Amino acid sequence: MNNIFNLEGKVAVITGASSGLGADAARAYAANGADVALFARRADRLEAVAKEIEKMGRKALAVPCDVMDEKAVAAGVQKVIDTYGKIDILLNNAGIAIPGGVEDLTEEAWDKGMNINVKGPFFMSKYIVPHMRKAKYGKIVNIASVNAIVADKFPDLWRHNYNASKAAVRGLTMGMAASYMQDNITVNSVGPGLFESEMTGGTLFKNENFMKMYNTSNPASRPGKRGELNGVLLFFSSDASSYVTGQFIAVDGGGSIV
Ligand SMILES: NC(=O)c1ccc[n+]([C@@H]2O[C@H](COP(=O)([O-])OP(=O)(O)OC[C@H]3O[C@@H](n4cnc5c(N)ncnc54)[C@H](OP(=O)(O)O)[C@@H]3O)[C@@H](O)[C@H]2O)c1
Repeated sequence: MNNIFNLEGKVAVITGASSGLGADAARAYAANGADVALFARRADRLEAVAKEIEKMGRKALAVPCDVMDEKAVAAGVQKVIDTYGKIDILLNNAGIAIPGGVEDLTEEAWDKGMNINVKGPFFMSKYIVPHMRKAKYGKIVNIASVNAIVADKFPDLWRHNYNASKAAVRGLTMGMAASYMQDNITVNSVGPGLFESEMTGGTLFKNENFMKMYNTSNPASRPGKRGELNGVLLFFSSDASSYVTGQFIAVDGGGSIV
């Protein structure tokens, strides 16, 4: 029987692959057979992840790139096409969580959050979708957040820009999904709950009140463990999800349904 999660022969582009959930996703894609292209700004970190993946017997291309820079994105995508000849999977994962509510946020901070979290996936999709449409194959996965559908009540946890930008990622997912299914391209989004990473390790994980609240209210009574996001990513990135598009799955131990 065919393994419908198998990614052998596929090429995956992952943004925000220099750390955290993106680097782990790249490892998971490679473990399932894909060659990868790693996008983020820190070249040294990308090279280190690329070396790890090459040791796994897969090809890895480091593409230092700021996803807010359209010219850099266009050039980065072209580099992937010149190297691999195609792109089957796009994981839009690069993101930032700007703290603060509307009364405190500056215009500059607001724009930064929207530019990385929403304009980044827009630019990446803009340059990759034409290749997918030509090939009549594509799997696009957008990392949103549970904060697209649930918010935090306590003032030290307000992140209104994050709520807005991650909800926009869901909207972009739906719009693109409806447009491109005819071209055999699925577009889905994922809402991680709480996972330890550079983004959360020094902030949420250090906030005792938040951790107590999260663990008390969450049906799993704990944050996500390393690797627990990958099952959904592999589902949305493989032929296992050939008839699934425009969807959002929260990976949060059930935190968003209580
Ligand atoms: N960890 C969680 O609990 C959690 C929960 C919900 C959603 N998420 C989402 O998951 C995604 C990954 O976050 P993470 O937790 O793994 O945090 P992380 O370790 O801080 O990773 C963020 C990644 O985004 C990259 N990045 C940031 N700005 C960029 C830019 N302008 N251009 C290109 N790359 C950029 C960073 O690389 P460089 O600095 O090298 O550019 C880094 O690789 C984010 O979208 C985040 O919102 C995380």
